[in-house]
Amino acid sequence: MVGMRIGMLTSGGDAPGLNAVIRGAVVTGQRVFDHEFIGFKNGWKGVTDPTWMPLGREEVKGIAKLGGTILGTSRTNPFDYGGADRVREVMAELSLDAIIAIGGEGTLAGAKELTDQGIPIVGVPKTVDNDLNGTDYTFGFDTAVSIATDAMDRLRTTGDAHSRCMVAEVMGRNVGWIALHSGIAAGAHLILIPEKPTSLEEISHWVNHAAGRGRAPLVVVAEGFRLDSMDEAHSERGLDAFGRPRLGGIGQILAPLIEEVTGIETRATTLGHIQRGGTPSAYDRVLATRFGMAAIHAVNNKSWGRMVSLRGTDIHLVDFGEALGALKVVPNERYEEAALLFG
Ligand code: F6P
Repeated sequence: MVGMRIGMLTSGGDAPGLNAVIRGAVVTGQRVFDHEFIGFKNGWKGVTDPTWMPLGREEVKGIAKLGGTILGTSRTNPFDYGGADRVREVMAELSLDAIIAIGGEGTLAGAKELTDQGIPIVGVPKTVDNDLNGTDYTFGFDTAVSIATDAMDRLRTTGDAHSRCMVAEVMGRNVGWIALHSGIAAGAHLILIPEKPTSLEEISHWVNHAAGRGRAPLVVVAEGFRLDSMDEAHSERGLDAFGRPRLGGIGQILAPLIEEVTGIETRATTLGHIQRGGTPSAYDRVLATRFGMAAIHAVNNKSWGRMVSLRGTDIHLVDFGEALGALKVVPNERYEEAALLFG
């Protein structure tokens, strides 16, 4: 096989493991297939307004354990900056044969449209929310769950000391995977997820139930959760580049309501971007490295419009379309299983 020139980019919100993908792809591509790489800076922004860095063994040395992304990222929609024509032009200027786009739902939707218009792209799915269809898990999720669990263990000791109800708000724009997993791990008394709008009455029932057993209630809430009396998830910071509401703050809304209804002193903590920062877990490093390596095989096979994915313990390739359209929500039976332990 003749070595190819490949451009790589990370796009959308960062997730711990992005650097491990980059390293896995570069080392495999360079060592095994003689490919050359460049890294576009700050997502699609670095493609449409070309800003890039050479990406070789030297640049990826020791980066698998680093959070963030050495390439930088942004929520830039390439179709706001010239779309497929512009990308084609830049690829020709830089003599690129392919692009590997590492990103979530917004990025992959853009990548699909570009591929449909003839741009050779392979995708690597990424999201701490773990909400992408077409793959069992995405890297970053395991790290986010570990960070959230550790934070809740800490909230529980201070909650116990004061006999308070503690509300922990975690990420999860449309789905409650982080809330579900960290809530189970931390032994939360109630888990509130976007898939299950709930009444204040039911929330106070479980808070009172836990307090009645002498426990300091811990309520985990995903940022995208809404009370059944709300039409939409709480958002007060406008829309992102893909037109999605910026969330965050539902915990602070719930805490005074819980306190008012139950009479139990209540505090809320929003974990926010702490869940996306820092060192990726070993699991995420392994998954990310395997995704990066598999992306090279996909490029070799010219599998444009496809992304790497995890099925069980095996890496597969699926069409971008499989990851788009619908999100991977928490199934009702998984929530009901966790609910057996509420209160
Ligand atoms: O999509 C991943 C995510 O972390 C969501 O959970 C959250 O709503 C969003 O990104 C935050 O985006 P930003 O980093 O742009 O504030």
